[in-house]
Amino acid sequence: MKNFVLKGTILYTEEKDHLIAAKDSYVVCQDSLCQGVFARLPECYQHFEVIDYGNNLIIPGLTDLHVHAPQYTVCGFAMDLELMPWLNACIFPEEAKYADPGYAREAYSVFVRDLKHSPTTRICTFGTLHTEGTLELMRQLEEAGFHGCVGKVSMDRNAPEALSETNGEKNLLDWLSQCHFEHIHPILTPRFIPACSDELMTSIGRIQKETHLPLQSHLSENPAEIDFVKELCPSSAFYGDAYDRFGTFGTNGSTIMAHCVHSGEAEIALMKQNNVYVAHCAESNFNLSSGIAPARRYLDAGLHMGLGTDIGGGTSVSMFRSIKEAVIASKMYWRLLDSTKAPLLFSEAFYLASKGGGSFFGKVGSFEKGYEFDAVVLDDSRLRAPRDLSPQNRLERVIYGDNCDVVTDKYICGEKI
Ligand code: GUN
Ligand code: FE
Repeated sequence: MKNFVLKGTILYTEEKDHLIAAKDSYVVCQDSLCQGVFARLPECYQHFEVIDYGNNLIIPGLTDLHVHAPQYTVCGFAMDLELMPWLNACIFPEEAKYADPGYAREAYSVFVRDLKHSPTTRICTFGTLHTEGTLELMRQLEEAGFHGCVGKVSMDRNAPEALSETNGEKNLLDWLSQCHFEHIHPILTPRFIPACSDELMTSIGRIQKETHLPLQSHLSENPAEIDFVKELCPSSAFYGDAYDRFGTFGTNGSTIMAHCVHSGEAEIALMKQNNVYVAHCAESNFNLSSGIAPARRYLDAGLHMGLGTDIGGGTSVSMFRSIKEAVIASKMYWRLLDSTKAPLLFSEAFYLASKGGGSFFGKVGSFEKGYEFDAVVLDDSRLRAPRDLSPQNRLERVIYGDNCDVVTDKYICGEKI
C-alpha cells in the first residue's frame, strides 16, 4: 500500500490564507510520500492503483497537537471550575486511576476507538505519570496505525500523593528504556511548573540536552496558575522563563507549549527565538474560563502553531471542532479585546490543524510534493443540499457541523488504517 492514487475532490493548504480545491483530481502516493495533486494523472503514475472516491472530499490528515488521552473518561465533568480547582477536584483523582493497568487498557481503548473515526492522523498526547499505563496507550495508538508522540507525565509536587513521584528521574528513564515503537515516539512531559520541583525540572532539562527528545508542557493558561508560578519561581521574569532556566523551553529539542492564553511580549519573543510551538486549545480555554489566546498575534509574530483538543479541558476528539472553536475564539478576541487582531480565516484555522501542527512532525499536513502521505476521505453525501455546493462550502459545512461521521477512510504515511 505504498504506491497508489486517490481520486476525488481534493482540498488542502500550502499557504495559510488560501484553501486549494481541486475537483475530480488525483493525489499520488509513492513510497509513502505525496507526489502532488493533478487534474490529469501523469504518465509515470498510470500503473499505480487508482482508488476512486467519486465525489468525496479528500483532505490532509489533521494533527491534534495537545491532548490528554486519560482525561477522555471525564470530558465535560466539573466545567464549573477554573483550571487549578478543576485539576484538583476532577483530573487528578481520575488520572490516579490509571495506576491500574486494567483501567488504563479499557479507558484508552475507548479513546483510541473514537480517535480512529475522527479526522486526526497525528497526535501529541499526555499519558499519566504511570509507566505501564502510558506504554499501554502507546501500544494501542501504534496498533491502530497512528503516528505521533506520547508522554509519561512527570510531576512531583502540588498534587495528591498518588500523583507525586518520589523518583521522577528514574521513572522517566525507566519508561524511556521501554519505548520501542515504530511510529509512536516518547516526548518529555513535565506537567507544568506548579507540579514539577526544581530537581525534577533539572533532570528533565539534562535528559533533553543529552537526548534531544521533544518536550511538551503547559504555559500561561490561567491567571491563578500564572500567579502561582510567580510565587514558586520569584526570580523568573515570566512563566516561560521558569522553563527556560532549566533548558526546557525549546533550546534543546522541539517543544510544544499548550494554551499560551496570557503570554506577554517577552514570553512571545522567547518562544519565537527558541522555535517553541504554541498548541492553541480554544475550546478548553472557553470551558475552563481561561481566556482567549491571541492566535492572530502569534501568527503575525511568526510563531509555530497548531491546534489541540486538550481533552478533557476540551470535550471532543474532533479536530473539526478545534478548527471551528479557533475561528470563533479569534472573532471574540477581535471584537471584545483587540480590534487590530483580525479574526482567523477559515483557511488559516484549517492550515493550523493540518500543516501548522503537522510541521512538528516534519513535512506533514499538506498534499505538496514530498509531504508524508496522510489523507482523510470525507463522504458528505448524507448532508443534503438543494443545489451544487462548491468544494470549500462542502468542507466548511462538514467542519462547522462537526460531522465526524463523514470520515470514511484514512491514510497515515501511506498506510490505510
Ligand atoms: N495544566 C496542567 N495540567 C493540565 C491539564 O491536565 N489540563 C489543562 N488544561 N491544563 C493543565
Ligand atoms: Fe492540557
